[in-house]
Amino acid sequence: MKVLVTGGAGFIGSNLVKQLLHDGNDVAVLDNLMSGYRENLGPFPDVRFIEGDVRDAAVVSGVMKDVEVVFHLAASVGNKRSIDHPLTDAGINVIGTLTVLEAARQAGVRKVVASSSAGIFGELKTLPIREDHPVEPDTPYGSTKLCMEKLCLAYAKLYPMEAVCLRYFNVYGPNQRFDAYGNVIPIFAFKMYGHEQLTIFGDGEQTRDFVNVRDVVQANIRAALSRGVSGAFNIGSGTRVTINHLVELLKNVSGIDAAVVYGDPRPGDVLHSLADIGAARSAFGFEPSVSLEDGLREYMEWVSGTG
Ligand SMILES: NC(=O)c1ccc[n+]([C@@H]2O[C@H](COP(=O)([O-])OP(=O)(O)OC[C@H]3O[C@@H](n4cnc5c(N)ncnc54)[C@H](O)[C@@H]3O)[C@@H](O)[C@H]2O)c1
Repeated sequence: MKVLVTGGAGFIGSNLVKQLLHDGNDVAVLDNLMSGYRENLGPFPDVRFIEGDVRDAAVVSGVMKDVEVVFHLAASVGNKRSIDHPLTDAGINVIGTLTVLEAARQAGVRKVVASSSAGIFGELKTLPIREDHPVEPDTPYGSTKLCMEKLCLAYAKLYPMEAVCLRYFNVYGPNQRFDAYGNVIPIFAFKMYGHEQLTIFGDGEQTRDFVNVRDVVQANIRAALSRGVSGAFNIGSGTRVTINHLVELLKNVSGIDAAVVYGDPRPGDVLHSLADIGAARSAFGFEPSVSLEDGLREYMEWVSGTG
């Protein structure tokens, strides 16, 4: 099928492009390289790369012709970036999404699969987190991702176009660089290879749901292939680990014995996080398959090759 991946030069997007090409799809990427890298697509000469902005209606409608599925990943990503640049965050995540939806509607696209975030929930009240958990985002990023979801789902109600929004928890894997807006796994991994000590905020007994990028790719593709499914779904591993255990795993798979120091807990950090993935499992057969240990081993090998 003919697909468009917005944000396809980024971390998750480039992993998705790899699998889509492997599956024999005709893939175009629209990306302005704000936080993506052209070299992420270097191994894929078959991809049609258009350097452009999702806020540019002429460019977006130009790449939408005959497209069956749009994977919409382009975004201003991360809480910190949104606090530093709230207008840019809203421009890309809200107006950019609307521009993509309008062009998709006009081109007769069958389905939009949009990348959302667990950041829409804000402070967590219950575990595991189901889709009906209250949505009270704490940052502009969480708010614009929620707005993006609502726009996608409104279009799916108004027009003959399906929309699935995937609320990722903590995604990790190859092509995730150190600059990935404060994600703990890349920070620890690159510090370990740089022989720097690791700082854990709090006692390290806080827990996170880390989901491998290959499972996130699987979720995108299964959602795209599903028929008659629209809605917002949690995408995590459905398991959680403490930060202390994460460090032990990173040491084991890399063989690097990093020093660890403990700092004060950071205000605003959630204590525990865990996705209930039952809805995605029953709606389109999402089934995470990469163990944290295997995923970290693969990731550490990638990090060791980047230096
Ligand atoms: N990595 C995670 O843990 C995580 C968690 C929750 C949600 N997400 C979401 O997943 C998606 C992909 O994130 P990622 O982690 O791969 O980050 P990323 O920064 O690597 O990817 C985002 C891509 O969008 C592109 N982009 C930004 N603004 C654009 C614009 N105006 N026009 C065209 N392209 C633009 C960037 O250049 C980049 O290639 C995002 O929508 C993000 O909000 C990621």
